[in-house]
Amino acid sequence: MSLILTPEEKEMLEGKHGKATRKAMEIITTLGEIYGAKRLIPVASVQIAGVSYHNLGEAGLEYLSEIAEDGRVRVLTTLNPAGMDMLEWKKHGISEDFAMNQERVVETFERMGVITTCTCTPYLIGNLPHYGEHIAWAESSAVCFANSVIGALTNREGGPSALATALTGKTAEYGFHLEENRVAQVKYDVQAELKDTDDFGLLGQVIGTRTGKTIPYITGVEKASIEELKSFCASVATYGGVAIFHMGGITPNKTPIPDKTEVVTDDDLRAARVELDDEGAKIDFISVGCPHASIKEIAKIAEMLDGKKVAKGKTVWITTAKPTKDLAIKMGYYDKIENAGAFLVADACCAVAPLKGKFTGLMTDSAKACFYARGKNKFKTEIRTIEQCIKEAIS
Ligand code: F3S
Repeated sequence: MSLILTPEEKEMLEGKHGKATRKAMEIITTLGEIYGAKRLIPVASVQIAGVSYHNLGEAGLEYLSEIAEDGRVRVLTTLNPAGMDMLEWKKHGISEDFAMNQERVVETFERMGVITTCTCTPYLIGNLPHYGEHIAWAESSAVCFANSVIGALTNREGGPSALATALTGKTAEYGFHLEENRVAQVKYDVQAELKDTDDFGLLGQVIGTRTGKTIPYITGVEKASIEELKSFCASVATYGGVAIFHMGGITPNKTPIPDKTEVVTDDDLRAARVELDDEGAKIDFISVGCPHASIKEIAKIAEMLDGKKVAKGKTVWITTAKPTKDLAIKMGYYDKIENAGAFLVADACCAVAPLKGKFTGLMTDSAKACFYARGKNKFKTEIRTIEQCIKEAIS
């Protein structure tokens, strides 16, 4: 074993801290051995994916229940979206059966001490690492955001490895925990106009598709809001598997600028848009909030829907984290959205909720949502700005 363990880590591996901790330490040390890590390092927080009962199924739930017998998390841990809004699921057409099973999953995590807020933007609701901090997150868009926009350090964890880190507080030091693996490899000079979250999603689609897992250094983006960056992260991670990027003047990590340069033009973005716009899509589902909407986005949508009505035959989901929904309730945004006949859905998203067969055409501002709507739910898609999505909803 090339891994050197501390006395406490050895005790965990020997089972002196319980069955679940032993199992978790076995997972962490096995990964460390596979990837040639020399030691384990403590993490400041964990984000676990694989929460929707839709993806987890009974076998996954059984595994979790076994861990929950004596497993308790040692660091701040939150969850990725579940398959439904944990409180208002009924009005979103979720079946009793599914709801009961989803509740069992979330209760199991709760028994372990996980903070059961289910969101892919944990950094917007209190699971926020600082620059240089080691964490273990699983959601690909959040991993990309944490590594790149915040400058925290995380690998793209799987569900079991993230949970194992939560139970031990440790991860093996390899991959993106090491500075030498975070260096930019190809420069992308953006010569395209970027106006909204949908454009940033398309940019992520173009760069992700071209770069694969190669680390991009992006120039030419003069400014980007948190909302635009979260859209870019989701897309570049989905279409390319990118876990870290650098954006000149915007992201904080230091890296040498690569010589090899590629150019991204308006034409590239237009081609990406055409690729996501399915011919003959009959839009009956409009979803904004992939990744989960910020309070700023919700405020904007609430104003647009105030006093309006969602058209017959259309369903609108604005997906967000529960603490953001609570804030939206307090600010009166929830009433404006729901009185218009749209839904402000917490804890879930259009990709992990059981929506297959319920709709045929999705309009969204998210390139990532298009990817999953097509792949998992077989919906046709159209990508538009948030304003255009809301206009479509009420027309
Ligand atoms: Fe989040 Fe679901 Fe999109 S997990 S990034 S809202 S596909």
